Amino acid sequence: MSPSGTILLLTTPHTYRAEAFVAAAKRLAVPLVTAVDLPPELARRWPGRLALDFQQPETAVQTILDFAQTTPLAAILPVDDSGVLIAACANQALGLPHNQPAAAAAARDKLVMRQFLHDGGVPTPPFHGFELDDTVEMVTAVVQAAIGFPCVVKPRTLNGSRGVIRANDATTLAMAVRRLQRLLQSIGAAGFLVEGYLPGVEVALEAVLDHGRLQPLALFDKPDPLEGPFFEETIYVTPSRLPMEAQTAVIEMAAQGARAIGLQTGAVHAELRLNEKGAWIVEVNGRSIGGLCSQTLRFDVGMSLEELLLRQAVGLDVRGLQRQPQASGVMMIPIPRPGILRRVEGLDAAQAVPGIDEIAITVPDHHRLVPLPEGESYLGFIFATGQTPDVVEEALRLAHGRLQFIIDEEIPLLIR
Ligand SMILES: Nc1ncnc2c1ncn2[C@@H]1O[C@H](COP(=O)(O)OP(=O)(O)OP(=O)(O)O)[C@@H](O)[C@H]1O
Ligand SMILES: [Mg+2]
Repeated sequence: MSPSGTILLLTTPHTYRAEAFVAAAKRLAVPLVTAVDLPPELARRWPGRLALDFQQPETAVQTILDFAQTTPLAAILPVDDSGVLIAACANQALGLPHNQPAAAAAARDKLVMRQFLHDGGVPTPPFHGFELDDTVEMVTAVVQAAIGFPCVVKPRTLNGSRGVIRANDATTLAMAVRRLQRLLQSIGAAGFLVEGYLPGVEVALEAVLDHGRLQPLALFDKPDPLEGPFFEETIYVTPSRLPMEAQTAVIEMAAQGARAIGLQTGAVHAELRLNEKGAWIVEVNGRSIGGLCSQTLRFDVGMSLEELLLRQAVGLDVRGLQRQPQASGVMMIPIPRPGILRRVEGLDAAQAVPGIDEIAITVPDHHRLVPLPEGESYLGFIFATGQTPDVVEEALRLAHGRLQFIIDEEIPLLIR
């Protein structure tokens, strides 16, 4: 029997995902209310929405519990990492299927995640956590003694490769640490960690968990080399072209990782690297794929990932659902250089490439572009489908090659 009630979707003001969930809820005829992460000064209820401050998880959970008094809830679903802990706590308090708050917190914090993986017997590179104001000398000493080179410095809680930097020696490590510390200070973020660099090809696994059992939904290849010093994501293509046994190793390692972290239910997005020693977890997140990338996935006869997740959340059986067999892919359009985006040219020519389904430029004209590692957004997304993953990858590259990004250099203001 499926629980009745409303789905509460936890979103942020900048999310790309809400629309797809709202459309899926309509299709399923499931009532859905959107909650938005807003600071207290803007926090107020308005028709059809609920304002929550994700920075104050306890208050946010209480607001949800109060809301549930008048609007019985079937499930609380986070659209990204920022709502994962609140969803876990609120679902738990309401007796709904949930991840343990400790597991949700671990999946959000790369340092705690590594600790859980290590404690659960999952192979991990050496790692060490640091406070924001630890000195470069101290970090270097720890890295030289316990981690070695190459290594990767990364923030505990940011996303989209923001602040993630590879260092090959003490000099580049010092530069990376200073750069990351400046970024984290400027945005008031928590500390960071350094871990051993994992060589190998990278893949991303989209999956759902049901009572701790992992059901793979799609495995994406990331065909562009991600070797640093920054790790800008570009192309994702599914199905994977890896040999079946490698794919199985990836899925098994992701399942082992989810178990070690303690995730039990709902969406999982895992990133892994594969080398001659096997599959290695980069991350296992208790959320679904970010940005607009879920558009690459269709299940059964045209069902979106969002609909699949809503179905699972209301207790419907999603076990038999398969990804449609057609190959598909997305390119997260990288920012070529800093400056002011004036306009994007060549859209019609790019759109005309066979196999291209859509090109979404998500950065508005005249907007300031900040590349990684400080930046936090891509220029947009190119979507393609085709007979094979190779054809899809080729179409994405061809379309991207036809786009021109007119970017003006930023003239620094001289203040006298
Ligand atoms: N130990 C590592 N070895 C090699 N590459 C790494 C390592 N850690 C991170 N990377 C690279 O940096 C990228 C970003 O790192 P990570 O996935 O940990 O953070 P994130 O992408 O910012 O988080 P999220 O995936 O939640 O948005 C990875 O996809 C991978 O390419
Ligand atoms: Mg990642």
